[in-house]
Amino acid sequence: MTRHDPHSYADLSQGRIKHIDLRIKADFETHILNIEADYQLDEPVSGSLFLDASRIKLEEAHIDNEPIKWEFDEQDDLLGERLHLKGLEDASSFTLTFATAPEARALQWLPSVQTAGGEHPFLFSQCQAIHARSLFPCQDTPSVRFTFSAEVEVPKPLTAVIAAEQVEVDERGESRVFKFKMPQPIPSYLFAIGAGNLVFRELGPRTGIYAEPEIIESAVWEFAENEEKIIEAEKLLGPYLWGRYDLLILPPSFPYGGMENPRLTFLTPTAILGNRGQTALITHELAHAWTGNLVTNATWEDFWLNEGWTTYAETRITEILDGKDVADLMAVYDERRLFEIMERFGMDSPLTCLKVPSEGRDPDSTFSIIPYYKGSFFLKECEHVVGRERFDAFTKKYMEGFQFQSLTTEAFLDFLKGELPEVFEKLNVHGWIYKPGLSDERRRPTSRLYDEVQEVLVAYKNGTRPTKEQVADWHRYQILSFLEALPKQIPIKDCKYFEEILDLKNKNDANHYSFLYAICITSGYEEILPRVEEFLGKIGRMLYIMPIFRAMIATDWAKDHARRIFESVRESHHQITVHVTNKLLEEAGL
Ligand code: BES
Ligand code: ZN
Repeated sequence: MTRHDPHSYADLSQGRIKHIDLRIKADFETHILNIEADYQLDEPVSGSLFLDASRIKLEEAHIDNEPIKWEFDEQDDLLGERLHLKGLEDASSFTLTFATAPEARALQWLPSVQTAGGEHPFLFSQCQAIHARSLFPCQDTPSVRFTFSAEVEVPKPLTAVIAAEQVEVDERGESRVFKFKMPQPIPSYLFAIGAGNLVFRELGPRTGIYAEPEIIESAVWEFAENEEKIIEAEKLLGPYLWGRYDLLILPPSFPYGGMENPRLTFLTPTAILGNRGQTALITHELAHAWTGNLVTNATWEDFWLNEGWTTYAETRITEILDGKDVADLMAVYDERRLFEIMERFGMDSPLTCLKVPSEGRDPDSTFSIIPYYKGSFFLKECEHVVGRERFDAFTKKYMEGFQFQSLTTEAFLDFLKGELPEVFEKLNVHGWIYKPGLSDERRRPTSRLYDEVQEVLVAYKNGTRPTKEQVADWHRYQILSFLEALPKQIPIKDCKYFEEILDLKNKNDANHYSFLYAICITSGYEEILPRVEEFLGKIGRMLYIMPIFRAMIATDWAKDHARRIFESVRESHHQITVHVTNKLLEEAGL
């Protein structure tokens, strides 16, 4: 057999799925989605068709009411099971009837106590990278794209959403049925579903927000500038081809900051700060509408094509909307984070390459921000070589030329070479892509606002603590830069002092506390533990909680608490978070 993607059992020489009609019934008692799905193939298939599946309970498989033979004939902890449809004869469509497992990796079923309103349950999915297969059997590789329609039946008064265009809502007894269509072809990882006690509010002509009623007002204020962001993004990347751009605000256990599901970004509630301080997250997810959703990485080894390009676009849009000072500050901060993580992995680790050989690796566990920032720094160097004007023309041509396609790193490099050959003359492109670490062959970012932080840090290291006045007007990224650059171990009284002068309690920003708690733990501030435990039970964003678990594992006194705390909070976390954290603890022998 020919496998095209190390993370999928699909054999694309057999044929490709091109459309799926899904009829989904959500059972909040049993935590099961009961699904009937009609699949269409791009050309008639004879013989076998391999699909990815994970813990799917397949009940029936038919072609035009005639049963077809099937078997789960391979299985792997990481990849799930291979569903083998057998003896097909010129089949251009088939129907599967199945149920998802209550522990389907993509889904989180939240009891009402874990929602803002506290009265209704909530359901949401997270399919990237390889979890769509736990929702429905599919060729779960980003190199296959399909259009779809979906009907979702949920009990009243819940509202269901799908990352697609809503076309109709019907009543069916005690239930409501929400109907959607997605006429643009998407890869499986961009399929997304949510359901809960949701309300919708318009922001602009093509932007809006779904959220629980308790938080809709604050969300509407926080993200009021989304339309403006689309206008700026279009100037850089070309027309927005997905129709609407809405947000779904999730409960706190959502494992990411944001997920760029088409037409409907899924967002952590920790992004609502009351000061629009984290709207770069929206810029990022919105940019994915082009870099990722329109032009897609062919496999997860090419992940940097999605995230590096998106981070690059994010920095360009931020420069316009927030000004050069802020963009420069973020660039320095990003570079420092990049170094820190590369050092943790080891500068010569293959995980620090842009193209990551990932056969056998779990994309969730090897996830890091390296492809984001290293990818973005590489593209900035390309821009520098040819000048902004030519690079912008190249970017638009790339977006248009490859729209609704998936491509490998190598296909991208071919395109780059054809369009901007000087890049290959002036930069060691091969080194940037295939070699670990970070090349010296690049311009280092500098920032006036970062220099202010640096001054305070130097003084602190020399024995002088900053005053409240000195830090009072700091930008959010100055505070983050400061916390990031503090020594990992400081006197306990200074942990308290910094929380106080930086006004962290009032700011209530989980990103600040992610840094602060890691420092407190390493510094031996044992009395902080109950607060840390509360934080780890309340915040689901992995980027914020993993550094705290890592700090606990690395610190003698805290090490023994890590497993206990994890066990006490695991119920409130998403499957993916539980899996990744558990693995981290196991690797530490806990
Ligand atoms: N697509 C990613 C989230 C993701 C990546 C999910 C890999 C599963 C596997 C999303 O666009 C993202 O990058 N989110 C970041 C935000 C960003 C500003 C760094 C996050 O969630 O922290
Ligand atoms: Zn992203």
